[in-house]
Amino acid sequence: MTGKFISLEGMDGAGKSTHIPNIIAMLQARGHEVIPTREPGGTALGERLREILLHENMHAETETLLMFAARREHIDRVIAPALARGAYVLSDRFTDATYAYQCGAKGVAAAKIQLLEQWVQADLQPDITLLFDMPVEVSIQRLATARSPDKFERENAAFFTRIRQAYLQRAIENPARFSVIDANRPLEEVKKSVEYIISTL
Ligand code: TYD
Repeated sequence: MTGKFISLEGMDGAGKSTHIPNIIAMLQARGHEVIPTREPGGTALGERLREILLHENMHAETETLLMFAARREHIDRVIAPALARGAYVLSDRFTDATYAYQCGAKGVAAAKIQLLEQWVQADLQPDITLLFDMPVEVSIQRLATARSPDKFERENAAFFTRIRQAYLQRAIENPARFSVIDANRPLEEVKKSVEYIISTL
């Protein structure tokens, strides 16, 4: 028995987190066990690494290595066992975020990330990735009114533009896995798009 691995991605401020409770409810209504989780994080050690990653400045490659250290633990303790017993894993971010933030925005070589990905994940990839996409100006405006920003959320428009482009490029390169959602619409409309995609799983 194998479950399904769903990841949610998007720039900070794109609103992906808002949809998590609804996705969980939909999957549970269909009788699935759902494991909501997040990256960086998802385990006790991973959450400690998250604290460091979100608030300490460090070399972009150090950041990449710590992301994958947390991910190794996350896969071993949470994701793989859940999938093996047939559960649905819903992760708020996964490796596409490393390609978008550490590679796209901060310039870490994609080849280095690919090496770590191969090492840590082997064949494991999300079955489906929902990418919440919106213009950079809109997400920055949203962040301006949000709670106290972490270090990634304090970056400038050029940084967010690189993230958006890197995510869209990932979607082009992995068309079977990605669903790109236009998140610059009224919440109810975005919710309908999300519900449609989940209903096809
Ligand atoms: P985020 O998922 O936006 O959580 P919250 O909604 O609580 O702010 O925060 C995680 C941050 O970590 C986000 O800015 C993206 C960043 N990140 C990376 O830079 N690389 C990664 O591989 C991952 C998983 C996250």
